[in-house]
Amino acid sequence: MSLADLVATYLAWLEAELRVLLTPQPALIQPAVGGHYAIMQYHMGWLSTDLEPVQAPSGKRVRPLLCLLACAAVGGDPATAVPAAAGLELLHNFSLIHDDIEDASLTRRHRPTAWALFGMPRACNAGDGMFSLAHAAFQRLPAQGVRPDIALNALRLFDETCVRLTEGQYLDMSFEGRLDVSVEDYFGMIAGKTGALLAASPEIGAVIGGAAPEVSDAYRRFGAALGRAFQLRDDILGIWGDEAVTGKSAASDILSKKKSLPVLYGLACQAVGAELRRLYAGPEFAAADVARVLALLDAAGAHTYAQEQVHHATIEARQALDRLAPESTAAPHAALAELLDVLAERNE
Ligand code: IPE
Ligand code: IPE
Ligand code: MG
Ligand code: MG
Repeated sequence: MSLADLVATYLAWLEAELRVLLTPQPALIQPAVGGHYAIMQYHMGWLSTDLEPVQAPSGKRVRPLLCLLACAAVGGDPATAVPAAAGLELLHNFSLIHDDIEDASLTRRHRPTAWALFGMPRACNAGDGMFSLAHAAFQRLPAQGVRPDIALNALRLFDETCVRLTEGQYLDMSFEGRLDVSVEDYFGMIAGKTGALLAASPEIGAVIGGAAPEVSDAYRRFGAALGRAFQLRDDILGIWGDEAVTGKSAASDILSKKKSLPVLYGLACQAVGAELRRLYAGPEFAAADVARVLALLDAAGAHTYAQEQVHHATIEARQALDRLAPESTAAPHAALAELLDVLAERNE
């Protein structure tokens, strides 16, 4: 089966599981809390801004696909891993709801962010609800036939991931006000905010599929390298992306003075670094400053440099995956390689 066939099958399972998890259980809860779930369902693209059922853009589902493909690649039954795949996607979406508050982002997936529409207090609480439901998803693994000790191990990896992700987000925010961020600091930060979840996704899939620890560790290394490529590409799109394609506000990373890799490259550049450092040390950017920063980054060759780094990280991920080949089932393994290539070139 090609990536497209596997994706279609897995996404149908995933969507059904997500709908169950994000639907309030009438017997258990007060009808008055329906609005809490509506915020979560809006964020997922299932409700319109008027809270009518709709099919709005809902994300690429990269993390659950990595989980289910890795489970199948080690010879496991991916259907058993669906609750974990849903938990990973919910954790990702929880992090986006909170990230949009943290980054003051008004647009995501081509629509107003949850906090822009429902206010910060309710959006924050909806994110917390989603975080909790992400954990509850893992409790559903034994009912799918996953051994309780394996489910507990998967949940341990998941909990460690949650902690790493928030550490990375802390660093990302604290770097906004600093000019002394090193490339090493940057890679440590993205390994937390984005890499931890992308590394854990195939690792957890492999664990549920019954892989030996050295094999699930190798899937983790593959996911970590893919995570680096993924965030580097996100950094490029955060500066040069087309708003109509990304669905996020253009140049938003510049406005919030994010220390993404293209910016670090520009700040260290002989020719334009001094002017960039002066701009970044000054007050909040106005529109004209953003245009000047973009021109300086272009003159420094920051775009080309960052895409080269995407390429290096993609090769690293590919090598990690190829080393797993003898352990892997052919079709899901090939699908993982295809997914990696698609993500390295992504524009959204
Ligand atoms: C966006 O993630 C945030 C990052 C970790 C870079 P995705 O690009 O996977 O977001 P969706 O789910 O597809 O919208
Ligand atoms: C990515 O954050 C990591 C998390 C959301 C945890 P970013 O702030 O870099 O991602 P976008 O560009 O808003 O999607
Ligand atoms: Mg953001
Ligand atoms: Mg952020």
